[in-house]
Order: sequence, then C-alpha cells, then structure tokens
Amino acid sequence: MHRMNRTSPYVVAAACLFVTTGALNQANSQPASPPKLDYEFFKTKVQPVFLTKREGHTRCVVCHTINNAPLHLVPLSPGSTSWNEAQSQQNFQLVQKVVVAGYEDSPLVKHPLAEAAGGDPHHGGGQQFASKNDPAWQTLRAFVLGAK
Ligand code: HEC
Repeated sequence: MHRMNRTSPYVVAAACLFVTTGALNQANSQPASPPKLDYEFFKTKVQPVFLTKREGHTRCVVCHTINNAPLHLVPLSPGSTSWNEAQSQQNFQLVQKVVVAGYEDSPLVKHPLAEAAGGDPHHGGGQQFASKNDPAWQTLRAFVLGAK
C-alpha cells in the first residue's frame, strides 16, 4: 500500500503531460484546416481586380457578367463603375464556385495566370497576369489563402 501511494503522483503527472501534449498537437494542426474567405478583403481588394483594365486585355467584369463560365459576377448597375453592398455580397458567394479556400491552385488564381508562369494553358480571357509578381494576381492568391 505504501508503495502505491508513492507512485500515484507520477501516474497523475504522466496523465497530465499526455493531455497537455495532445492539446498542443491539436493547436499546431489548426493552420492545416482550410482558412475562411474574408468578405471585406474580397469587397475592397479582389473586386477592383475584376474592374481594372490591363494592357492588351478586356476587363474581367466585361466577360464574366455575361458569359456562362464557372466564374459569374453580378452585372454592374447602369451608370455604376463598381458593385454596391448587396451585389458585392452576391459576388462573394458566386466567386466561391472557382475558389477552394486554402488551395492556391484554385481556378480563380490559376486560370487567368500566364501558362509560362504556372497558369492554365487556355483562358478565353487571356493570360491576364504575366507573372506571379503581378500585385493584382497576388491579391487573388492572398484572398484564396484567407487574407484579411
Ligand atoms: C474576353 C473575355 C474574358 C475576360 C476578359 C476574362 N475571362 Fe475568364 N473566362 C472567359 C471564358 C470564355 C471562360 C470559360 C472558358 C475558359 O475556361 O477559358 C473563362 C473562365 C474563367 C474562369 C473559370 C475557370 C474554370 O474552368 O473554372 C475563371 C476563374 C476566370 N475565367 C477568371 C478570370 C479573371 C480573374 C479575369 C480577369 C483578370 C478574367 N477571367 C477575364 C472569358 C474571359
């Protein structure tokens, strides 16, 4: 009996260590789960990418509000140069058809990127981003990776 009383604190300590280690492992593995897409980042940073004219290319908004491609955006209201709040929220839902959160090869990121830079070989809208150094391309990538 005397021996049991002396060993039991060690058993308790070992059990605590096990629980603590388990909790730490769980915390460490969290970044591996998909990040959440941020609406404000989408509205203020990504939508302008869709509206900007790039040399030698048509703006994303021109094609992607009227065609049946997997990326479909809400048409701008007559006379408007950008989307209002309700339209932005709709776009945020619509864009998720071409975004897998946390996956940087999502179609939104890979499709308009030049093939030579690692993009898809064909996009009806052209190779809008010549390289991964293009800040607008980096904005698309950051969004997909959960930037706020
Ligand atoms: C000249 C018209 C045009 C413009 C401008 C254009 N696209 Fe496209 N896009 C298309 C067409 C057509 C398709 C469907 C066929 C294809 O995959 O190329 C498409 C497909 C896509 C897809 C879906 C890929 C898939 O299969 O899931 C994405 C994402 C996309 N475009 C992003 C963009 C972005 C971002 C821009 C602006 C930087 C842009 N596009 C500009 C015509 C355009």
